[in-house]
Amino acid sequence: MLIHIKKSTKSQSENRVFIIEKLGDLKKLDLTTASLNYFKAELKEGKFAYTNNNGVFTLVFVADNLKAYKGKEAVRKIASTIFDLVKDKCKDLTVICNNAEAVELFAEGLALSSYAFDKYLPADRKSNPKLTKVTTTNKEADVQSVEHITEATAWARDLINEPVSYLTATQFSEEIKEKCIPAGIKVDVFRKKKIEALKMGGLLAVNKGSLQPPTFNILEWKPKNAVNKKPIVLVGKGIVYDTGGLSLKPTANSMDFMKSDMGGAAAMVGTMLAIAKSKLPLHVITLIPSTDNRPGGDAYAPGDIITMFDGTTVEVMNTDAEGRMVLADALAYAKKFDPELVIDGATLTGAAVRAIGLFGIVAMGNANQKEFKALDKAGFDTHDRIVQFPFWDDYKEEMKSSIADLNNLGGPYAGMITAGKFLEHFTDYPYIHLDIAGPTFLHKKDSYRGKGGTGAGVRVLTAYLKTKANEWKRRK
Ligand code: BES
Ligand code: MN
Ligand code: ZN
Repeated sequence: MLIHIKKSTKSQSENRVFIIEKLGDLKKLDLTTASLNYFKAELKEGKFAYTNNNGVFTLVFVADNLKAYKGKEAVRKIASTIFDLVKDKCKDLTVICNNAEAVELFAEGLALSSYAFDKYLPADRKSNPKLTKVTTTNKEADVQSVEHITEATAWARDLINEPVSYLTATQFSEEIKEKCIPAGIKVDVFRKKKIEALKMGGLLAVNKGSLQPPTFNILEWKPKNAVNKKPIVLVGKGIVYDTGGLSLKPTANSMDFMKSDMGGAAAMVGTMLAIAKSKLPLHVITLIPSTDNRPGGDAYAPGDIITMFDGTTVEVMNTDAEGRMVLADALAYAKKFDPELVIDGATLTGAAVRAIGLFGIVAMGNANQKEFKALDKAGFDTHDRIVQFPFWDDYKEEMKSSIADLNNLGGPYAGMITAGKFLEHFTDYPYIHLDIAGPTFLHKKDSYRGKGGTGAGVRVLTAYLKTKANEWKRRK
């Protein structure tokens, strides 16, 4: 269970967290002179201080840079430090602060820090914090919206952390239905027969080495008050496990965390859940092609030429470049919705990780530059940051084949971009590709991002879609 902040008109606990915007506000707090002097001496920018009087905690920190992204992030991180400090010592906590945004950021950091993937642990090792009740006296804070976003992020993390021994493509569809249908999202799952009938050659090729059938999932959030006529379509890479297939993953340990190769799908279904729970007036469709990638008996092989859903032929040069094979079919399928914009999310390339590491999402595309601006802003606001890379046609050359329309491998340079250009071939609408291979999964804890699946993409895309809904509301 995640911890959430609830509103209350009066302090519900002796344990209090005071958030102030400048050190000068310290004297306005309901504190004894002795503790005032103590905090005055202890508090420096970006730091927090606390007293523990026989188990009663008083914590204070200064959030004095809230306009800047670093200041916002500092509040989430302090929330994480405070969570670790008090989770086994206090059963309740009251957050006292006049600034609604600071309360929301604190709530977000706290909730995300309380996430634990402990399903497979015995009871005595499950995360069981003593801290269960957190309230705030702030009346304006939108803690409801924080709750929707953090719950959706936690769900994405669960999906990523679930191993393929549980989360097969079929089980993934079950999880989607279980969470999304009650939230008002329409869910349609195509099974193998239907996928064969549709001739989704890319998805079927990757699935050939697997004993488990593939799925193609269609989620639709279409509220009556939607402000857009043409839908936004999200597409997520749903490779529930990536061995590399016959081109078995070569480098040491590179397969260990490949249960996370459906991180793009998790980001997209998480975003759908967040916007549906918040009843965002926007028509959004999500497509998830899903399978594992294995070197089984009839596995697709380097040298194969695959006819894709849209008729394009692809020469397979490396079966480990499977993400683009399944995404290509989904992107081509997206044409039938006449979308305003399509955004895909995928743990697509090691090249993206080598380029910017674990701290951001690699973006590229041919959509209007103003969409990248909006994504950039949403990225900094949520600290789920996005960096735009070039998308010049020069990169397409590497993806050509002498015996088919395309090859699936590309050359030695800029692999994240050549992969993006491969995908663009299957589109005929404004398109943005997000390579989230870096930030999706962490091998060690990073504050509220934790260890394991992070849910990267959920918070930035939810924030971005909120700005789109507002923009269209004004246009209408
Ligand atoms: N799922 C991997 C990419 C990946 C790498 C995700 C590291 C997360 C962390 C993807 O399917 C893959 O194997 N990509 C290959 C493509 C290459 C064969 C063209 C890569 O990046 O090496
Ligand atoms: Mn691969
Ligand atoms: Zn992969």
